[in-house]
Amino acid sequence: MRKTAPDRLPTHVAIIMDGNGRWAKQQKLRRVEGHKVGIDSVREITETTCDLGIPYLTLYAFSKENWSRPKEEVRMLMFLLGLYLEQELPMMMDRGIRFNIIGERGDFSKSLQAQFDDVMRKTARNRNLVLTIALSYSGRKEIIRSVRLLCEDVINGRVRRIDERAFRRHLYSPAIPDPDFLIRTSGEMRLSNFLLWQVAYTEIYVTDILWPDFRKQAFLDALAEFAKRDRRFGNVKDF
Ligand code: IPE
Ligand code: IPE
Ligand code: MG
Repeated sequence: MRKTAPDRLPTHVAIIMDGNGRWAKQQKLRRVEGHKVGIDSVREITETTCDLGIPYLTLYAFSKENWSRPKEEVRMLMFLLGLYLEQELPMMMDRGIRFNIIGERGDFSKSLQAQFDDVMRKTARNRNLVLTIALSYSGRKEIIRSVRLLCEDVINGRVRRIDERAFRRHLYSPAIPDPDFLIRTSGEMRLSNFLLWQVAYTEIYVTDILWPDFRKQAFLDALAEFAKRDRRFGNVKDF
């Protein structure tokens, strides 16, 4: 069994944390119990990322589409989000983790938004890891938003050339590099509207492990697979 980290690590890992509901069903529990145990996975993966010295971790926690779930599930997810922020702040301070959000923050309650601001402000000077949580996030919406802001730049004369750089400046977190590695748990071979622009050359890894079971060893196994990937970026190797 692998115990050490592989030698070639990604700079930015993004994860689609899927399978909480299926995990709960397997255990004959309510879906919410899966979300609760999923928070333990979030903590373990965040701490491991920190220990490995990987500087960026982005977690897909709630999509724009997830608002269409049953009211009670959405309510519980909002409750758990608040609890998570409250509980994890000391750990973030301890480990030098900077908290960041991408997505439509305005979709959340005033009290959650205040909590987001509070955690972001308190962790703003932390330097070891940027932990980004995608909340009410939609990749298409992020692209449209960027296009709209870019159009305003053009109209106002701030931008003359529409290119990738000008577009990128209006992403939610323009300073964060594109993910090198995207992990999806629970076996689904799709992106579900996650980081559509940013994953152009990201290495994708799908595991059947359900998110509440995805812990340190599974993460190290995924990273070992990344270390073996041959990233060509459209080029050829031997010429
Ligand atoms: C991921 O688990 C968490 C969220 C999307 C909020 P799911 O709740 O999607 O779990 P499954 O896919 O139904 O098993
Ligand atoms: C993707 O999972 C969104 C998150 C992990 C937050 P979903 O469970 O919502 O995705 P689909 O419905 O299987 O595509
Ligand atoms: Mg799911």
